[in-house]
Amino acid sequence: MLSTRTEIGTLSPESIGQLVTVYGWVNTRRDHPDVLFVDLRDRSGMVQVVFNPQESEMYREAVKLRSEYAIGVRGLVRRRPEGTENPGKLLGEIEVVARELTVFNAAHTPPFYIRDGVEVDESLRLKYRYLDLRRPEMFTIFEVRHKVMQKVRRFLDEAGFLEIETPFLTNSTPEGARDYLVPSRVNPGAFYALPQSPQLFKQLLMVSGMEKYFQITRCFRDEDLRADRQPEFTQIDLEMSFVDQEDILPLMEKLMVQIFQEFMGKDIPASFPRMSYREAMDRFGSDKPDLRFGLELVDVADVVKDTGFKVFADVVHKGGRAMGLRVPGGASLPRREIDKLTEFVGVFGARGLAYIVLHDGERKSPILKFFTELEADALISAMGGQDGDILFFVAGEEGVVWNSLGNLRLEMGRRFDLIDGEKMSFLWITDFPLLEYDAKENRYVAIHHPFTAPREEDVEKLESAPLEVKAQAYDLVVNGTELGGGSIRIHRREVQEKFFALLGMTEEESREKFGYLLEAFEYGTPPHGGIAFGLDRLIMILTERDNIRDVIAFPKTQSATCLMTKAPTPVEPLQLRELHIKFV
Ligand code: AMO
Ligand code: AMP
Repeated sequence: MLSTRTEIGTLSPESIGQLVTVYGWVNTRRDHPDVLFVDLRDRSGMVQVVFNPQESEMYREAVKLRSEYAIGVRGLVRRRPEGTENPGKLLGEIEVVARELTVFNAAHTPPFYIRDGVEVDESLRLKYRYLDLRRPEMFTIFEVRHKVMQKVRRFLDEAGFLEIETPFLTNSTPEGARDYLVPSRVNPGAFYALPQSPQLFKQLLMVSGMEKYFQITRCFRDEDLRADRQPEFTQIDLEMSFVDQEDILPLMEKLMVQIFQEFMGKDIPASFPRMSYREAMDRFGSDKPDLRFGLELVDVADVVKDTGFKVFADVVHKGGRAMGLRVPGGASLPRREIDKLTEFVGVFGARGLAYIVLHDGERKSPILKFFTELEADALISAMGGQDGDILFFVAGEEGVVWNSLGNLRLEMGRRFDLIDGEKMSFLWITDFPLLEYDAKENRYVAIHHPFTAPREEDVEKLESAPLEVKAQAYDLVVNGTELGGGSIRIHRREVQEKFFALLGMTEEESREKFGYLLEAFEYGTPPHGGIAFGLDRLIMILTERDNIRDVIAFPKTQSATCLMTKAPTPVEPLQLRELHIKFV
C-alpha cells in the first residue's frame, strides 16, 4: 500500500520538520563524493531529495536511479544548508532528506531531455508523446485547456444553456471539407460520416425546444492541414432560439472577455469592433485581418486605368481591381527577394508583382517606363510613397488581388517585425456574402455552410442576384486567426430549398440528403442561430503557441497520421470482408 502522498508543489518552508512521502519522476541525479541529490518532479513541482551514504542500503539503491525512474521517497523536510539555497528555483529553500526509497519502475534513457525549451525534432516528440507531455510547459498548457473548458461550462450553464451530446456516427454535415467515412458492417455498402460539426443536430435541438444548447465536442474534417488545423479538433459549439445577431454577439463578447482576463491577464474591451467582409477585404485583403499592425491596401484603379501601362489599365477596364501595398523600409529588399515575393504572390494567382522602389530620391521600377512623369507622380502620391519605401502592385480579378496582397501584407508584417506581440486585436467580421461563384465547379458555393440565413431584405434577391445577397453570418477574429464563426439560420423550408437549389442540388438530392431537416422546418421551427469556436485555437492564443499540435494531447502530423500509434494502419482481410470492402 502507498503511504499518504504530499504533492511536491504543496511543500513550503512551513513543511520544515515534517516527515512526508513524495512521489514522482527523477528529473536529474547528481553525485557528490559524500552525498547524492535527486531532483524529484511531479506534476505540481520539483524538489531536491538528499540521500546520505550513512543509510547504506538505501544509498546503494539511490545510486542506481536514472532520469525518469518513477519513485517514491519518504523523508524529512528541512531547510537547505546555508549557501546551498537556490532562490531562482521552485522550492529552492527546502529539501527532503530521504529515509525510505521505493522504485516503482525504471526507465530507459529517454530519447530527449524532459525539460522545457529543449530543441527536439517534433517527430521524435510525437512518437514519444507520453514523454513529451511530461515537460512542465505541457502541464501548464493542459491545465489552461482544462480550466478554460470548465470556465466555458460554468458560464454557459449560468446563462441557461444545456450541454447535450450529438452523434459521431451520422450522415454528412457539410462544412466545406471532406468527410471521414465509417463503413457499416450490418448495412452492406452503407457508410456513416463523422460530423464536420454538430450543425444540423444543434438546429434540430432548437426545433425540439431545447432553446439553448452547447457542447464541447470533437469535429472531424478531412482537409489539408496547416499550423492551425487538425483533422479532429474541438469546438465550443452553441445554439439559441428566438434570437438574432444582437443577442449572440454581446453574450460571446462577455465570455471571451472573462476568458482572456482570467487566463491571459489581459484587459480587453468589453465589446469588439465590427467590420464588414467587404471593408476587411478591401483594406487588408483578408476576412481575418490582423489589426495589430497597419499596412493597408490602397485601391489604385483610378490612377492606372488611363495610363500607358496596359496590363493594369486593361484589367481595370474589364472590371478587375488594381491595388497597392506600401511597405515603409522596403526599399532595402534586394532584387532576388523581390523575385521570391513575385513567386509568393503567384501561389495566390497573381500574374506578376509590380513594384516601385523609392530610394535616395530615385525611383527604381520595371513598370515606370509605361507611365508619364505625371502619371508616375500620381501613382506614388496615391500610395503615400516616401523615400525608403517599396510600393507593390497587383492587378487582376478581385479575389486574386485581395488574396495576393493580403498575404503579402502578412509576410511583410512578419519580415519587418511590425506585429506588436503585446497587443490583442479582437474583431467581428460581419455582412459576408451568402455565396461565391466557384468557376472550377461552375456553380455557387456557400461561404459559410448552406444553413446560413440570408438577410431578411435580401431573400428576394436569392434568385435574381444571388451574389449580392448578404448572409446573417459573423466570424470572430483574434490577432488574425479565425477563432469562431456562426450565423442566424434558415428556419423556413422554402428558403432552405431555394438555397439548396442555388448550390446546384436537385430537389431529389436535397430531399435525399436533408429531407429530415426540411421536414423538421414544417413543425414549428423557431428562428435560431449560434456560433462555434475552435477550442484548440483559443488555447493556442491563450498559451501563446503558434502550433495547434502543442495544445492537443495526442495530435496528428501534417499528413494526418499519429506517429505514436501509427494510425491509420491497414486492417485484417477478415475485418474488410465483414465490412464488405474490397480494394481496387
Ligand atoms: P466553422 O467551420 O467556422 O463553423 O468552425 C468553427 C471554428 O472551428 C475552428 N476550426 C478548426 N480548428 C482546428 N482545426 C480545424 N480543421 C478547424 N476547422 C474549424 C475554427 C472555426 O472558426 N457549424 C459551424 C458553426 C456555426 O455556424 O455555428 C462551424 O463549424 O476556429
Ligand atoms: P511585363 O509587362 O510582363 O514586362 O510586366 C511588367 C511588370 O509588371 C513586371 O514586374 C510584372 O511582374 C508586373 N506585372 C505584370 N502583370 C501583373 C499583374 N497582373 N499584377 C501585378 N503586376 C504585374
